[in-house]
Amino acid sequence: MATSSAQAVFVTSKVLENVAAIPSMARTEEAFLLLLMSYVAYIEATRMHVKGNAMRYLAVIGLLLASGLFAAAGSSPAYAERRAFELTIEDTKIVLVENQSFHTFAFNGQVPGPLMHVQEGDDVEVTVTNLTTLPHTIHWHGLLQRGSWQNDGVPDVTQKAIAPGDSYTYKFKADPAGTMWYHCHVNVHEHVAMRGMWGPLVVEPRNPRPIEKEITKDYLLMLSTWVSKWADRPGEGGEPGDVHDFFTINGKAFPDTQPIRVKEGDLVRLRLFGSGDAVHSIHLHGHVFEVFAKDGHPLPAPYKADTILIGPGERYDIIFRADNPGRWMVHDHVDSHTVNGRKGHGGIMTVVEYEGIPNDQPWYHWGHKKFEPDFYYESALKKPLGMHEAEVFKGTPAK
Ligand code: CU
Ligand code: CU
Ligand code: CU
Repeated sequence: MATSSAQAVFVTSKVLENVAAIPSMARTEEAFLLLLMSYVAYIEATRMHVKGNAMRYLAVIGLLLASGLFAAAGSSPAYAERRAFELTIEDTKIVLVENQSFHTFAFNGQVPGPLMHVQEGDDVEVTVTNLTTLPHTIHWHGLLQRGSWQNDGVPDVTQKAIAPGDSYTYKFKADPAGTMWYHCHVNVHEHVAMRGMWGPLVVEPRNPRPIEKEITKDYLLMLSTWVSKWADRPGEGGEPGDVHDFFTINGKAFPDTQPIRVKEGDLVRLRLFGSGDAVHSIHLHGHVFEVFAKDGHPLPAPYKADTILIGPGERYDIIFRADNPGRWMVHDHVDSHTVNGRKGHGGIMTVVEYEGIPNDQPWYHWGHKKFEPDFYYESALKKPLGMHEAEVFKGTPAK
């Protein structure tokens, strides 16, 4: 009897050991593996001269306990959702301030593209249909593509570019978690630098850090540059020496950007993306923020700052407590990025507006402005996971 008990305990401990060797239980295959091991362990317990049902039950209870321990440790065999999205690439015209229009190759007709919001470990499938007259691909920047490198979206390296009129389906795991993004990888000097071919891909972590659970306002800012010289010449431009003369947050230049509305006590996250072709130096007035994550990865030692440099391709998640009621500028401190063409007081600028601060001064830019609640995808980020478009980013079809 004592020997049989010892054997059951031995089997259970072996299962625990093997399961512990799996780095992440976030994947379906691993969930299946756990199931398989439980089954094998049960058979083993039965085979090892364990007499009577009592001992078999003991082995099963041991296994249940093992699974329970895993769930408690936060690495239970979670279910990976399959998320299928459809994207089109369309010739689209967007109009910035001062009636400056730009021809874009816009994802679902909008700049930035739709928000893709998924959970770590999800199986993502995106079918892309190219409705333009030029070839494109999509690269999923920040995703590791373990075992799926053919889905990395690089023309002539991992695939042939998607020809006009064709469709292509990308399949990959949402791994790792964090603030990621997607963009075309064909002629990036034109398509990414000045045709608006980018959008956000936010992968929610399965085990968020304590501070993330306290965030009350989550905003997403994609920074980009434009060259009016090439505005209406799709297929051209993006040459060394081009002069950037328009600068945008989520495809709009001040005063067409929107205020970041907070209330005292909020814990605010700004997800900053270098989605264009220039370096930006984002400064927040009246607050000290914590640099929480770089390229989606939480920093081992977050640091405090009031200005942060963001290069092309980079992402920073910064977090601050709304503890100073008022109205505070957020702007690019590369000063020439705060113009619209040749006019000052534009470009990459916005304002943190606290609830309760009157904004009816006649000189205040945004005193009477229509508020767009999803300009920073702040409402979309609160919706159930999935793909979310925003009307405010839609352009009009271009010839
Ligand atoms: Cu492209
Ligand atoms: Cu990239
Ligand atoms: Cu300033």
